[in-house]
Amino acid sequence: MARVLVTRRLPDGGLEPLAGHEVIGPKPGDAPYSHGELVALAGEVDAIVCLLTDRVDARVLEAGAGRLRVVANVAVGYDNIDVAAAAKHRIVVCNTPGVLDETTADLAFALILAACRLTSTAETDLRAGRWHGWGITQYLGVDVHGATLGIVGFGRIGRAVARRAAGFSMQVLHHTRRPTGHDGYVADLDELLARVDVVTLHVPGGADTHHLIDARRLALMKPTAVLVNTARGTVVDEAALADALHAGRLFAAGLDVYEHEPRVHPRLMDAPRTVLLPHVGSASKRTRTIMATTATAAVATVLAGGTPANVVAAG
Ligand code: DGY
Repeated sequence: MARVLVTRRLPDGGLEPLAGHEVIGPKPGDAPYSHGELVALAGEVDAIVCLLTDRVDARVLEAGAGRLRVVANVAVGYDNIDVAAAAKHRIVVCNTPGVLDETTADLAFALILAACRLTSTAETDLRAGRWHGWGITQYLGVDVHGATLGIVGFGRIGRAVARRAAGFSMQVLHHTRRPTGHDGYVADLDELLARVDVVTLHVPGGADTHHLIDARRLALMKPTAVLVNTARGTVVDEAALADALHAGRLFAAGLDVYEHEPRVHPRLMDAPRTVLLPHVGSASKRTRTIMATTATAAVATVLAGGTPANVVAAG
């Protein structure tokens, strides 16, 4: 029987694959473990099941070296885990690829629709009693049908968004660093940003994509364009985005992720025509349950001496 730290409460059934192992955590009241607590516990467990909000850095992994065999992130993104440090200490890292693509693409498309059609602004006015009847010049958004969509990052989620866009008669362009061989590939990100009406981001977080969308690139976009981010907050320079929205240099934005979660840049909070969601891309009951069991099943496989399919760093 191995000892597994599960840092936060998981959806019902999420722990089932760990039957037969000793599970410690989550804390009473589901409070997060501090970084210091993770460092202290890492050497006392064989496995950690964590969330993207847990920083599993070199200090945690070094503290676990010798006993800790696997860290499983209940997320597809793993920019919260120092994968190089894990590999150095022969600790396996797993994530949850492929199980949240359609759910996240649904949410990305919801943000495309909401940001283009100003639904948050309109609803906020209605709820505040500021709507006094239909008006022909009220809440004039931009059409989604027939618009050109630019998908930055064309992995599983980006492609799932492209499928939805086809149903809205959108023209779809996409950019990745390596040619995809698919129609609509644009090699130059700057060119894609300048050509499209809506940009949706689907690249991983981390150093390679930090501020990929910065002030210079925002300035390349049409003033009528809309930016949607369901990837990682660090991909966008939030201060530059807030400036562009306040200055009317960008029509609207739909954001689900932030540079310093749970803090949202104060100038985004009051930016016009901006839809802000609290990182709910994968938040359907079914998908979150499958994410949890995917992570815990991977841990059980490693503890049994096997190699799960969803390994991002081999031990
Ligand atoms: C992930 O899995 O990386 C998502 O951000 C969670 O919704």
